[in-house]
Amino acid sequence: MKKLIGLKKTRSAVFISGTGTNLKNLINFSHKINSPISIKIIISNNKKAKGLKYSNQYKIKKQIINFKNHKFAEKKILKILFKEKINFICLAGFMKILSKNFIKKFKGKILNIHPSLLPKYKGLNTHARALQNRDKFSGCTVHLVNSKLDSGKIIMQEKVKITKKDTTFSLKRKVLKKEHKLYPAAIKKILR
Ligand code: GRF
Repeated sequence: MKKLIGLKKTRSAVFISGTGTNLKNLINFSHKINSPISIKIIISNNKKAKGLKYSNQYKIKKQIINFKNHKFAEKKILKILFKEKINFICLAGFMKILSKNFIKKFKGKILNIHPSLLPKYKGLNTHARALQNRDKFSGCTVHLVNSKLDSGKIIMQEKVKITKKDTTFSLKRKVLKKEHKLYPAAIKKILR
């Protein structure tokens, strides 16, 4: 068995824009002894993001960043991340596209989770598109972030079967359940 006690966890940030089920799941994962990450800050571009409640609940710092001026917003985030000595970023339902310049500063250290079997269905409304095309499977992907939308190197994927009864709602629920297993596994793969 690997000796895990005493291992230093990587200081990480999670970026969100909405509900934050992946954030909550990653926080719980980070608390495990064999988790390679410790979440030091939550960044949101949306002050109304439901996931922000986990900041209080789990006593993790949060910062809400207005993206009206994208360049300025990224500059502000970088300053915060350097101050917090962050070495790893998980995007979890973060609805802004990070610039080349930002990504360069964290090369190979930014992961995203996407609710489709990439390269299929980059962008939004993935479940509706999979259903409309009568796909037999959908799923989720964890990938490294590069400057093109949902296009970085794939780290891990998980499939789910689409049944005739599925709606966008039921498919989203099924895929989210897989996401919550896949994201921690992909983080372990990258950081261990
Ligand atoms: C997830 O489906 C994720 O794959 C996508 O955005 C959604 C975020 O959900 N990028 P939540 O906010 O983590 O519940």
